[in-house]
Amino acid sequence: MGYSVAIDGPAGAGKSTIAKQIAKKMNFIYVDTGAMYRAMALFLIRNKVSADEKEKIEEICKEAKITIEYREGEQVVLLDGENVNGLIRTEEVGNMASASSVNGEVRKKLVALQQELAKSAEVIMDGRDIGTCVLPEANVKVYLTADARVRAKRRFDELTAKGEACDIDKIEADIIERDYRDMHREISPLKQAEDAVLVDTSEMNIEEVVDTIMELIRKDREV
Ligand code: DC
Repeated sequence: MGYSVAIDGPAGAGKSTIAKQIAKKMNFIYVDTGAMYRAMALFLIRNKVSADEKEKIEEICKEAKITIEYREGEQVVLLDGENVNGLIRTEEVGNMASASSVNGEVRKKLVALQQELAKSAEVIMDGRDIGTCVLPEANVKVYLTADARVRAKRRFDELTAKGEACDIDKIEADIIERDYRDMHREISPLKQAEDAVLVDTSEMNIEEVVDTIMELIRKDREV
């Protein structure tokens, strides 16, 4: 196992933004595990499987060929060799990812891929179960969170900047629903690992969060 930093937390807490910046500074590989669940969700949507068809998901997820490549430092998720990065950031795929990730077969397959990536490299990996399940021996573990309203506002600003019409109350309701599902599923629910440091970003800017986590890494590397 290489050096590893695990960042877990609910949707919209800023995990990927923060992890990407730290990866750059530290020369770590950034592993976005949510993107893998999203690619699996896209595969299921394309195969016309709905979120409640448990057995069909179990059967069909085995056929998904999901691989990861790094191009110019960016993680590229390939589904059957096709770069799907541009197709997985929709609300539809996100909701399907949250729903289908409760499935044990889906998780088994993607966790194996994540652990494989961490074997040979120094990584900062973000997700829901990294500190608790994927990398229980991670050197530094952070649980990143923020108020649901703050997270909804961030998502609203992001979508508005892209010119997409959206409703902040609907986004907040979706976030709360997704949190609930991620935290209450049977297998590997989202929760703070016992040895993770809690960082609430509700009133912090990106730089402050990056500095806080960099300090944790520095301290860990000193000892
Ligand atoms: O972080 P994200 O929004 O891209 O993740 C999409 C969904 O994937 C999320 O609602 C739950 C699931 N997920 C998971 O179950 N475990 C992970 N390690 C990462 C994501």
